[in-house]
Amino acid sequence: MTDDVLAVHGGTPLQGQIRVRGAKNLVSKAMVATLLGDTPSRLFDVPRIRDVEVVTGLLELHGVKVTRGDDDGELVFDPANVESASTDEINVHAGSSRIPILFCGPLLHRLGHAFIPDLGGCHIGPRPIDFHIQALRQFGAIVDKLPDGMHLTAPNGLHGTKLELPYPSVGATEQVLLTAVMAEGVTELRNAAVEPEIIDLICILQKMGAIITVHTDRVIEIHGVKRLRGYTHKPIPDRIEAASWAAAALATRGEIEVLGAGQADMMTFLNVFRSVGGEFEITDARVGREGVSAQEGGIRFWHPGGELNAVALETDVHPGFMTDWQQPLVVALTQARGLSIVHETVYEQRLGYTDALNSMGATIQVYRDCLGGTPCRFGRRNFKHSAVIAGPSKLHAADLVIPDLRAGFSHLIAALAAEGTSRVYGVDLINRGYEDFETKLAQLGARVERP
Ligand code: EPZ
Repeated sequence: MTDDVLAVHGGTPLQGQIRVRGAKNLVSKAMVATLLGDTPSRLFDVPRIRDVEVVTGLLELHGVKVTRGDDDGELVFDPANVESASTDEINVHAGSSRIPILFCGPLLHRLGHAFIPDLGGCHIGPRPIDFHIQALRQFGAIVDKLPDGMHLTAPNGLHGTKLELPYPSVGATEQVLLTAVMAEGVTELRNAAVEPEIIDLICILQKMGAIITVHTDRVIEIHGVKRLRGYTHKPIPDRIEAASWAAAALATRGEIEVLGAGQADMMTFLNVFRSVGGEFEITDARVGREGVSAQEGGIRFWHPGGELNAVALETDVHPGFMTDWQQPLVVALTQARGLSIVHETVYEQRLGYTDALNSMGATIQVYRDCLGGTPCRFGRRNFKHSAVIAGPSKLHAADLVIPDLRAGFSHLIAALAAEGTSRVYGVDLINRGYEDFETKLAQLGARVERP
């Protein structure tokens, strides 16, 4: 634990440019999809993050040859020799990520059986997988949950089916897509998630030869095909990382240009950022500014001076305000005048990190009620899922322990905004989703060091 700590000298506005690459929550799924092709796939702009390492390890165990391509960030996947891996080997990856659950459909198609280790991922509530299992069973899979992990077979093959998700789960929608594309017949999925990362996954599958229609009202129809080929793809940019840096600019009264960030998938965030009092400029169409080519634009975020405004917001599935944008933005809201309200409706336990902010001088109260908006499925179920943030509060340094990825980044932002030197423990967790964050912090003038 002692070398997994960062000393953060706060109080300096972050200033400068950093670049985001392909979205973590698309890239990892795109990597799983390579199993379905019968020719190699190429993925560009892949960030060097822990989740990519975990999925690479699992693919290699199953015989996929993963190599670096000529471009920086390019990975090439050759699935010519997909094979079974031993449960012991697979179990080395137990607890490291949630992505292994998405191997079910592709492995059943390629091998007729699959073994999935215990899942990891961020500790932000129970995170059940009941929708996944129900869907796989409807496709015809036999799913056995044993002490060592989950064993699946499909003795009669996988067949298209009609499904309706109880909630538009991102992972369960991806599970259905990755299974239905090569299942026999037609699959109709109702109440599907339609996050931009899912649409990008559908684009990849279409490149591979799949037939998928996204209808209105969260209905997706998939016509199973007998074979899929490899793909070449540049993923959408990471809109969670982009928003995290935007919140860091606001909380530290700085200015950060996030190269590579895209406006369309961040519209909801940008509206809230503007309502809070932050300024931004879309720079992706800019040509000829010194040192920046037309392709290298993104979004420049800054604090215009003066006071920030309190807001009321509710996290939701797309096109709502993402749950992963919530934690970084709350740090900035501690600096806004008045009472802000945040109603978390995606995860039931994603406000625990506010204790750390309170220990730094913030005034945040969490409530079981659905505050400020429409009642959600967590109301009256005893989960503290609404927060009231009173500001502005002067933040002071503290010793912090990072609980999960997004909350971890918000701890970092709080330490950068606070007066004095904080120690942030467990920072390696941030490498799961933020490429080279220490280098980027240095580029932005942050005063941080490994003590
Ligand atoms: C994805 O998680 C992302 N992870 C999460 O990002 C993100 O917060 C989430 O989608 C929502 O946008 C990846 O893409 C790897 P869900 P996922 O299934 O797919 C409930 C990050 O930091 N549910 O949409 O696991 C679940 O408990 C991470 O990058 C069930 O009840 O999320 C939650 O309340 C954190 N049963 C809700 O649905 C199920 O079988 C949404 O979860 C599945 C989900």
